[in-house]
Amino acid sequence: MKNGDLRIPFAWEERRPVLLDSFLYIPPLYAKHNEWQKVSLFVNTKPIVIEYCSGNGEWICNMAKEEKDLNWIAVEKRFDRSKKIWARLKREQIPNLIVVNGEALTFSKFYILERSVSKIYVNFPDPWPKLRHAKHRLIRSEFLDELEKILLPKAQATFTTDDRNYAEQMQQLIDWKKLNVTTDVSNFGSSYFLDLWEEKGRTIYKLEYEYVDNSM
Ligand SMILES: C[S@@+](CC[C@H](N)C(=O)[O-])C[C@H]1O[C@@H](n2cnc3c(N)ncnc32)[C@H](O)[C@@H]1O
Repeated sequence: MKNGDLRIPFAWEERRPVLLDSFLYIPPLYAKHNEWQKVSLFVNTKPIVIEYCSGNGEWICNMAKEEKDLNWIAVEKRFDRSKKIWARLKREQIPNLIVVNGEALTFSKFYILERSVSKIYVNFPDPWPKLRHAKHRLIRSEFLDELEKILLPKAQATFTTDDRNYAEQMQQLIDWKKLNVTTDVSNFGSSYFLDLWEEKGRTIYKLEYEYVDNSM
């Protein structure tokens, strides 16, 4: 199975979301996300774990192969990278993994059932280090509000970044129960960016939370 085996099967004007063969395609610049009828993305009821910003999927493919009693969802907005993950899941036959080619907030808001997710990871979201670009960061109130709808009570959430300023901002924004903040990622697995930043000797921040509903 090669990356090129997966193509968007319709012209731009006819684009629409499609769930087919472990791949959920969510079109960008699309106005009708609210027409999607949310369904369970898996045929079994095993706990669901989402990784947002999966890149080429190295980390989540390894995790899904190790932790077979969990259902894994890789969310990646770039089609070329999503294709790479899908090609690997087909090649290596990873039945407990689904690739979502779509934007993280849009997926969370329109495509995943509320109160259905046991764990999330946000691994090295784009840091947008310049102050004037910080508004583009994924971890902001709007996204956290959507997470609060899809997470189960006491769900676990892990955020990793090499950007100290972003790590601090995350801690200011997330008002769930903080379990751990560490720069020790020795048991975290392997991803392109984790390996790259470790090789360059950069400090990596790992923030772990338990979701609590503070509105009650
Ligand atoms: C710095 S890379 C990290 C990739 C991978 N987690 C790793 O550790 O190698 C960030 C990835 O997040 C994706 N991304 C950024 N913003 C996103 C969003 N809002 N929704 C989905 N994916 C996003 C980018 O396309 C990119 O592949």
